[in-house]
Amino acid sequence: MRTQVVIIGGGPSGLLLAQLLHGRGIDSIVLERRTRAHVLSRIRAGVLETGLLDLLEQADAGTRMRQEGMPHDGTLITYGDEAFRIDFAELTGKSVMVYGQTEVTRDLYAARDKTGGQSEFEVDEVQIEGADSDAPAVTYLQSGVRKRIACDFVAGCDGFHGISRKSIPGATQRSYEKVYPFGWLGILSETPPVSDELIYANSDRGFALCSMRNPTLSRYYIQCDAGDHIDNWSDDAFWTELKRRIPAEQAANLITGPSFEKSIAPLRSFVTEPMQWGRLFLCGDAAHIVPPTGAKGLNTAASDVHYLFSALTRWYQHNDADAVAQYSQRALARVWKAERFSWWFSKLMHRFPHHSGFDLRMQRAEIEFLRSNEAAQKAMAENYVGLPYEG
Ligand code: APR
Ligand code: PHB
Repeated sequence: MRTQVVIIGGGPSGLLLAQLLHGRGIDSIVLERRTRAHVLSRIRAGVLETGLLDLLEQADAGTRMRQEGMPHDGTLITYGDEAFRIDFAELTGKSVMVYGQTEVTRDLYAARDKTGGQSEFEVDEVQIEGADSDAPAVTYLQSGVRKRIACDFVAGCDGFHGISRKSIPGATQRSYEKVYPFGWLGILSETPPVSDELIYANSDRGFALCSMRNPTLSRYYIQCDAGDHIDNWSDDAFWTELKRRIPAEQAANLITGPSFEKSIAPLRSFVTEPMQWGRLFLCGDAAHIVPPTGAKGLNTAASDVHYLFSALTRWYQHNDADAVAQYSQRALARVWKAERFSWWFSKLMHRFPHHSGFDLRMQRAEIEFLRSNEAAQKAMAENYVGLPYEG
């Protein structure tokens, strides 16, 4: 087999790239380790930046998002019983779209089906050959048969646990990591959201987040211990704890019900540099992880896809090799800013086990500064709605 770009990983990064390339007449094959049903069963965040909305439209996967997504012009930040709003629309002229990542992925698969693009599922032992040559190839095992695809480029979109990052020789690679000493316990429940907008809550008992997927489906999170387990959390215990972390006014309005998804996610910041080696390019979680505070995971994956897509387009349509050579540098410049924002917002909103009385006063002073200072709010809002894709 031969194609122009082999895309390892059929998550949102891989599919978005595949569909954008298709729009420019560039062929790709997507290789996914799991089944499509498994990929579509993963529950992830649900706040999309404008840059990603534009890319979804370009990929011909934006129609349902425009119809069913919920534009949000601001968000609520609370601490104890105090609350204030950050008005994205007024501060930046932009808003965000609340629409689940699972739905984004579903729409991208539907777009891929429509174009007849090739995707292979349940592939094992994916290996990259000759990434440092002009003629790379990818081999894999499917139903016991080893297959090989020759290609021009390999896009490593296979998430944090994928093989792409590990295929880059260690000596050329440097990684930076911070593991946070807590997790997020999240639930989905078929109840109307407690508020029209998201609530990020800082409380003495730890962080909480009130989010949503649509007008009848809510997504809530509470900060929990890193080693905690969902068996320790009945629905009742979850709702009781959530109510103690949000202001009394919102707690009184909270409609509770049975949860139908409950999971604990660890919090981590991670970046690997560079994001390319020869003709292998890393995109999304394969290259970086952010803690979920601020919902930058998928959005940062999308900005990588933007840079790689425009570099490959310049290669194939304009015989221009410069953008491909500069992919890592361009992508990383924006990645680090998203890392900074996610780290800052996480530090601002959570209780850390090592927090001293001084640290707590500093956190409170920073929240009160944000409440009262328009410049600080503007900086927050610009990051939240998404920094521009430069270059
Ligand atoms: N071979 C083929 N596919 C693989 C391999 C492999 N060796 N390893 C992993 N995969 C697949 C996974 O099964 C998954 O479907 O790669 C895909 C990677 O998808 P994601 O983990 O979703 O990563 P990405 O597409 O970069 O999406 C960005 O945004 O909100 C964040 O973490 C969140 O998933 C999200 C991400
Ligand atoms: C979510 O809805 O899952 C979500 C929203 C905002 C975040 C993180 C997660 O910051």
